[in-house]
Amino acid sequence: MISHRIPRLMPNALAGLRAAVGDRVIDLTVSNPTRVGLPLPAADIRAALDDPRVAAYEPESFGRLEAREAVCAYYAGVHGVAVEPRDVALTASTSEAYSFLLKLLADPGERVLVPTPSYPLFTHLLQLDGVDASSYGLVYDLDRWCIDLESVERGVRGGARAIIAVGPNNPTGSYLKAAEVSALDRLARVHGIAVVSDEVFADFPLRPRDADCVPTLAGRVTGSLGFSLGGLSKLLACPQLKLGWIVMSGDPAARARVREGLELVADTYLSVGTPVQVALPALLSLRSAVVAAIGRRLTANLESLRAALGTSGPCRILDAEGGWSAIVRIPVVMDADEACADLAHHAGVWVQPGYFFDLPAGHIVLSLIVEEAAFRAGTAALMARIGSW
Ligand SMILES: Cc1ncc(COP(=O)(O)O)c(C=O)c1O
Repeated sequence: MISHRIPRLMPNALAGLRAAVGDRVIDLTVSNPTRVGLPLPAADIRAALDDPRVAAYEPESFGRLEAREAVCAYYAGVHGVAVEPRDVALTASTSEAYSFLLKLLADPGERVLVPTPSYPLFTHLLQLDGVDASSYGLVYDLDRWCIDLESVERGVRGGARAIIAVGPNNPTGSYLKAAEVSALDRLARVHGIAVVSDEVFADFPLRPRDADCVPTLAGRVTGSLGFSLGGLSKLLACPQLKLGWIVMSGDPAARARVREGLELVADTYLSVGTPVQVALPALLSLRSAVVAAIGRRLTANLESLRAALGTSGPCRILDAEGGWSAIVRIPVVMDADEACADLAHHAGVWVQPGYFFDLPAGHIVLSLIVEEAAFRAGTAALMARIGSW
């Protein structure tokens, strides 16, 4: 009765265990920024939404002009890039932005390239739009993540309709590098396809950015067509506001060709609420305070994690340039699900197995936005338990 786009979900042993252990564990995987006691400017957010203009409905396919101008001001102020409002389309979330772009760029049954490891939602995002995923690799070499460009080239030659990149990637934390952007731009131009860059974590470096890190594709792709994705779910730690965006960049002729198509998709749904659009200029003015508060949380937790791991213990943190996650390499002495269950029962902590993100055996993933005291206690207990294996 239901379409093949809906995945047949298999019962997952870890999900059952998670429900069973409930509050008895310190959850080191919480990624909902509204649930971790961040000092968010809640009164200012409410004030921004309290505007008489929210009562009127004036639909525009890409969203209200002053909201798109606020996005342009963000790119100019934070990234030093000039973006025109006509190249900005508002969406209800980054996830919806992906869906719009898949409709725009790929026919059902066609493929797009996605990074591996990366975050698991891609499987469903693509499947729900009838598009197949083809993986390209990120490799961890000499303590740094980099794109396996040969695997991208193979995928592009195999007919992929777009290359999706995530920077910083979740969970590897790797930014795109200048040489990688040039290579993706060249491949996309030669094959007449687009590069989609998910930049929701761009403003969250975990250490001073290396000179060759590229936080946004906007202004960086020249020959091909680029789409940068961002939004308030991370930038303002407010996923509940439901506002994301797509910024088009690159070849002006290609942009002109796709703009009408993207307008048609956006106009069909008109999914972004008026209140959040009206409030966007004021909301984005809160960005630096929120980013700074989250930055302090990430730094403090990374320090706790380093302290818990020590330098001579059995675990190592993989280099993370940015984002909200840390990957920890752990000894492989049991199956990944067994390891998570052991840590829940004996250390009282909940962690994610690396395979959720297509990481090889012997890796776990922790969220760095967990409340600080809980994170400190949780990582200390985690390392004590792993030390006893
Ligand atoms: C890399 C990345 N992009 C996008 C999203 C989803 O963002 P949104 O809430 O805007 O759909 C997530 C969610 O965790 C993510 O990790």
